Amino acid sequence: MANTGKKLTIIGSGAVGTAAAQWAVSRNVADDIVLLDVVEGVPQGKALDLAQCAPLCGFTGRIRGSNDYADTAGSDVIIITAGLARKPGMSRDDLLEKNVQIVRSVTEEAVKNSPNACIVVVTNPIDAMVYTAFKISGFPRERVVGMAGVLDSARYRTFLAWELGVAPSDITALVMGIHGDNMLPLTRLASVNGVPVEDLLSREKLDEIVSRTQNGGAEIVQHLKTGSAFSTPGLAAIEMAESILKDQKRVLPCAAYLQGEFGIDGVFLGVPVVLGKGGVERIVEFRLTEDEKKALETSVQAVKKQVAATGL
Ligand code: 2OP
Repeated sequence: MANTGKKLTIIGSGAVGTAAAQWAVSRNVADDIVLLDVVEGVPQGKALDLAQCAPLCGFTGRIRGSNDYADTAGSDVIIITAGLARKPGMSRDDLLEKNVQIVRSVTEEAVKNSPNACIVVVTNPIDAMVYTAFKISGFPRERVVGMAGVLDSARYRTFLAWELGVAPSDITALVMGIHGDNMLPLTRLASVNGVPVEDLLSREKLDEIVSRTQNGGAEIVQHLKTGSAFSTPGLAAIEMAESILKDQKRVLPCAAYLQGEFGIDGVFLGVPVVLGKGGVERIVEFRLTEDEKKALETSVQAVKKQVAATGL
């Protein structure tokens, strides 16, 4: 068996949930992985397929598919991916009404079986869905967190790396705020191993990259036509889960519930956090410029609108 002694549940065996399960297996993040879905047979078949990767990728745990929440009991981390995905022409907000019902019922069932878990929400629109899971679970804010900053920052880092002709892993960059059009890629802080990108690229080029990052999800939806991105969203969720399961204390941009940090109160918003065995162990607060504060405020207003639409 793997050596984490941990249990991970992934709810939803659609494209993102399946990608997350695959990354979880390939990175050996837990001893026990459960892929759960309401559709009979699909999580079982996908999990069985992934289990058979073990001899090739070195996975030492167990992965199984299920339609029964009893199998998820005692999970340390629960990743919620269940919900509808975007189609061309749809915004993340268009998904809200349906997905709030799904995230509601999934959260109720999941927390009954795993009262001590950390919940990582991936379902869109993430900033409102993570609020839904927070309200329904009754969990402390430390144990409910939304994915998106890791995904958006990965896109930003990739586009910067392509432009600079350098290794993507050598780009450090942070995207804060909502997972939507008003997200805030912080150009001021982006660097190539400490060298500011503002010294390496023109303002026009940087603006272009910021805009491509903000539209990164929609760009993929336009290509796929019948769905949205899944590989990087799945990996981003596992990066977060792994940091919690292995108490790595990674500093990752995630949607965390703010209570005065950055002067913002009562919403989930993408900010850098320390993720460890307690979930969101710390929110890493730092000084923003006046322009950045203004941009973040636009995010806050957009999230508040989404949250109001959940009726919670
Ligand atoms: C994305 O940005 C699906 O929201 C997700 O690709």
